[in-house]
Amino acid sequence: MKFLIEGGNKLSGKIAVQGSKNSVLPILAATLLVDGKSVIHNCPRLSDVDAAIRILTDFGCAVTRENDTLTVDSTNAGNCRVSDLLSRRMRSSILFLAPAVSRFGKAQFSFPGGCEIGLRPIDLHLSSLRLLGADTDEKSGMLCCKAVNGFKGNRIHLTFPSVGATETVLLAAAVSKGTTVLTNAAREPEIVDLANFLNKAGARIFGAGENAVIIVGAPALNSIEYRVIPDRIVTATYLFCAAITGGEIEITKTKPQLLEAVFPLLEETGCAVRRNKNTVFLSAPERLRPVRTVRTMPYPGFPTDLQSPVTALLCVADGTSVVTETIFENRHKYIGELIRLGADIRTEGATAIIGGVENLHGASVRATDLRGGFALVIAALKADGKTVIDNIYHIDRGYETPERVLSSLGANIKRIT
Ligand code: UD1
Repeated sequence: MKFLIEGGNKLSGKIAVQGSKNSVLPILAATLLVDGKSVIHNCPRLSDVDAAIRILTDFGCAVTRENDTLTVDSTNAGNCRVSDLLSRRMRSSILFLAPAVSRFGKAQFSFPGGCEIGLRPIDLHLSSLRLLGADTDEKSGMLCCKAVNGFKGNRIHLTFPSVGATETVLLAAAVSKGTTVLTNAAREPEIVDLANFLNKAGARIFGAGENAVIIVGAPALNSIEYRVIPDRIVTATYLFCAAITGGEIEITKTKPQLLEAVFPLLEETGCAVRRNKNTVFLSAPERLRPVRTVRTMPYPGFPTDLQSPVTALLCVADGTSVVTETIFENRHKYIGELIRLGADIRTEGATAIIGGVENLHGASVRATDLRGGFALVIAALKADGKTVIDNIYHIDRGYETPERVLSSLGANIKRIT
């Protein structure tokens, strides 16, 4: 599958944003802990969500979808092994490890390999599970984890505030004996969303979204109905799409308060941004101004998932901008593709120095990863002529029918085979 984009149209109009991928994946993992049904609203249709559903089905859960609502019935879950294909296909499969061990006393996964944006080790997940009483064994690419008498509360300090490891601790400690105190926890809104889901089902988690989280183990979790938060990364990427074309956009059903690190940057480029509780409105100038420095940081800093989209945006600014990645070691692969579109970008280690050009030019390019893939869409919307983006399965992992959303705003974009 490819996208064919003919650039140059100014985007204008109103869209509602999809639910958050990074919330729905750990919440789907958490449904394994629930005795009964979980009804989850605002679930986007994404290939990563489909992979998570297949993992749950492998475990013996019954999963049904009606529009954006997923119902997971985990009453008959029984299998504790995830197929090699599924655990390798999606890195987030690691989030299913703690709930599976909690539920079955043991679980067996294929070791997730590296991925497009770096090695992404899981040492913090495993050391946390060991502190909570699990035995882990890694042999021939397989990972076995056991806690036959369930997890037991402990004190855990993460050496880095990893989002996934924080979620693993919440998922392991929610149904456990005793109390867990987690320090240097990640503070991302998706962690708060997971904690809200677990608490609504009967868990006792205090302080999610802060540096220290206390989890008082509950004996079991009950059936629940829950609505996932809107996707802050997708909200920002569509703002960037409108901004690069000099357009205007209104995004509804979102949570602008989760993007406080992004709005000052957009204002620095000359965009006017207005927001209220669930809506954000952006109006862009004819030519964007450069920004002095953008540095990715754990929340509430500038998100690493927006590093490539913002780099694409700044390619056509009127001057030089600097963007530094501090979270992942290999998140610059897409830059070579932006250069094919006429961008002037130089990298020095983790820093990209972007000399703004008047305009980009259509070319054939390849998506290298999810966010880097969407960065090419942003660039192509502005570029003169036609751009073909190959390997868009990366983009489908995180953006629900972007061709429909962007066409509704006036873009000329088609999905082709
Ligand atoms: C999550 C998000 C991803 C986002 C990232 C950082 C999901 C499904 N994905 O990924 O979109 O880019 O947070 O905001 O929510 N690390 C270790 N050992 C570990 C775990 C992580 O060294 O055991 C390192 C990673 O290699 C990376 C850094 O910590 O350099 C951050 O990773 P982490 O916060 O765990 O990201 P993910 O949870 O994988």
